Amino acid sequence: MQVALKIWRYDSSTGERVLRDYEFDAPDEATLLDCLDIVKDKHDGSLAYRKSCRMMICGSCGMRMDGAAVLACKTRMYDIAQDGHVPVISAMGNLPIVKDLVVDMDPFWSKFKAMKPYLQPGYDVPQDGREYRISQQRMNVVHKEALCINCGCCVSECNAMESDPEFLGPQALAKGMRFVGDPRDAATVERLEQYSGPHGIWECTRCFFCNERCPKGVDPRDAIAKLGAEAIKEGIDRDMGAKHAKWFIRSTETTGWLRETELVPKTQGVVSSVKQMKFAMGLIKHNKAGLAFPPHVARDVSEARNLRKLVSEQDRQGALGHVQGERALARLAHGHSGDESLEDIYNRQGAFLRPYLPGEGSAEGQGSLTQADVTPGKEPTKKPGGGA
Ligand code: SF4
Ligand code: SF4
Ligand code: FES
Repeated sequence: MQVALKIWRYDSSTGERVLRDYEFDAPDEATLLDCLDIVKDKHDGSLAYRKSCRMMICGSCGMRMDGAAVLACKTRMYDIAQDGHVPVISAMGNLPIVKDLVVDMDPFWSKFKAMKPYLQPGYDVPQDGREYRISQQRMNVVHKEALCINCGCCVSECNAMESDPEFLGPQALAKGMRFVGDPRDAATVERLEQYSGPHGIWECTRCFFCNERCPKGVDPRDAIAKLGAEAIKEGIDRDMGAKHAKWFIRSTETTGWLRETELVPKTQGVVSSVKQMKFAMGLIKHNKAGLAFPPHVARDVSEARNLRKLVSEQDRQGALGHVQGERALARLAHGHSGDESLEDIYNRQGAFLRPYLPGEGSAEGQGSLTQADVTPGKEPTKKPGGGA
């Protein structure tokens, strides 16, 4: 097949940046990484990029295609070339570029290390002298997180990191959940305290780009939600984000809907409420404050209350509840109805690729990546410090 690429070339030592065109023949089965190899071998030996395994395991070949992070060795070029599309390849975002498609991973690794990404064992040695056994249900909580290959694709697209480069970020927090959720780890509370601090869990904007771009189905945003749930379960709720989450639970339980106007007085206290009075008056003036008294109560509020009761009775307030929710949401998202099984749904003509579901293995190594692989955008985003 005939392939055409546009590649952003960059040299951090000179600051020179230029978009170069390449056209060449490639085998039909070629991936983006194979195509870069062809460019480097036959057309331009100065092109710099990272690679190692060529099979979606080492995490070296993260880069952007048309403005969205991909693993080059996972991205097949056939359909793109047949469509006549010329993708724009650039370095990952949120990390400083060293040269062409190679970024400086030091900031990434220092956040990774800050999570203490190793087991701090605190379990009793089983009396029979055999291995420590964990139920499948408990391991389901961290199964997705354990799939991470540290490629950085999630970090590349994280908009909380864009506004706060100190934010721990999706990869590091997913790694943190890997150990918080491990029943053998004895440092759960210390970890949750650390991850709940400034630049931690509650700084995530919930944009879900990390879930969308993760090539391994780790779904880091889900991991962050699990961390939040575990933190609240352990009573670690000093952060305003945790207070907001708690208020939303309370408001759905009492009236069946989210009473956002009460958020500030209920979570930030009187002084802060007074400071925001001018803003509140503006809302009232434009009839946007929702100040009905007594507050409107949803007709089926008992359903919200029963749901909360059920979660509590089943002891699913923390991460376990999220795992259960993921399974239910996956069914809804894929149009589950009546007696139709998940298998039936994925066998439908034109169905999405099957996402990874906890405990069910990952289909075709695709994880939960079901969104379009191509995001429009010819220009790489410029970041302070030279990141693309
Ligand atoms: S959901 Fe949160 S962690 Fe994920 S990309 Fe968005 S801001 Fe970053
Ligand atoms: S969470 Fe996914 S995208 Fe992020 S580093 Fe791990 S494998 Fe890569
Ligand atoms: S080369 Fe190892 S993940 Fe792509």
